[in-house]
Amino acid sequence: MPESSIEKRFSMISTEPLNSEANFAKDVHEGLSSKPKTLPSIYFYDYQGSLLFEEICRLPEYYLTRAESEILETYRDEIINHLEKDTQLVELGSGSSIKTQLIIEQFLDEYKKAHYSPIDISKKMLKNSSYSLLNRYSQLHITSVAAEYNEGLKHLNLENDKAKLIIWLGSSIGNFHPDESTEFVKQLSQQLEPQRDYCLIGFDLRKDRKILEQAYDDAEGITAQFNFNILTRINRDLGGQFDLHNFRHLARYNEDEGRVEMHLVSEQAQQVFIRQLNNHYQFETDETIHTENSYKFSQSQIDNLARQTGLYVHQRWFDSQNLFTLVLFRKV
Ligand code: TRP
Repeated sequence: MPESSIEKRFSMISTEPLNSEANFAKDVHEGLSSKPKTLPSIYFYDYQGSLLFEEICRLPEYYLTRAESEILETYRDEIINHLEKDTQLVELGSGSSIKTQLIIEQFLDEYKKAHYSPIDISKKMLKNSSYSLLNRYSQLHITSVAAEYNEGLKHLNLENDKAKLIIWLGSSIGNFHPDESTEFVKQLSQQLEPQRDYCLIGFDLRKDRKILEQAYDDAEGITAQFNFNILTRINRDLGGQFDLHNFRHLARYNEDEGRVEMHLVSEQAQQVFIRQLNNHYQFETDETIHTENSYKFSQSQIDNLARQTGLYVHQRWFDSQNLFTLVLFRKV
């Protein structure tokens, strides 16, 4: 088959306005006015944040990416063997697509052409990673969607006559509250056809506190920078006057809830003005802004998730140290 130009093999759907400034302003005001204070983690992932996250993925402490990549490298042939020839590969939160490249490559080896649909909130990230894949693989077609997960799936308007594999890696599912992730996976499940479609989800497993806390508080301070990126964004986009030196990064494992929590802790009593919101926000010493949760999973939680969402576990794989699991689901 002759190679066709990259432009012909690429399209981008984008839902505008993406996290518009008005939404951002509203979310920041609500979060900083509530008790305890919170900020929604979706705002970590602008282009700058996505680059920082890529750096996190290479840190020695952040075992998640390595463990998941090991599983993909070891078992990608098994995964691909389940799929039929024209399967559309859809990915939620694709970022740099580095891990998914392993799946795409295996699929191309087996079936010679592939259709990949990454969904991500950073347009620039989507474009860069898509072009790099298209450059590398001449028989690859990409329909990308710049949007949040829900919107993205809607806009993708998945064709019902086509088999699909929905891919959701990196234990990003753990960044949702369990009620929300169950609800979301239910919606995913509604898009799947029994006996034909699959859903592949990566879950970080429950483990020793020390390993978990280090993964979210690395020696180089990259994760701290990532956490601080949200204040940087408030300063830049909303005229915030946060002095980053007056806060510190905190990651702690809340064992009862089964989640690592990320906070920004105020080092002193202070008030911070945000120009666009025309408001001062008061902080007490050691008061925290809760910025992110990363839930960790047990086998039985994964089985329950399947049961509650109309899915069943078709196959599961683990890395050699049993830190992480990749689960292939089908619809009941
Ligand atoms: N999905 C990633 C995780 O939960 C996101 C993440 C990694 C993250 N490190 C972080 C989010 C630090 C906020 C702060 O592992």
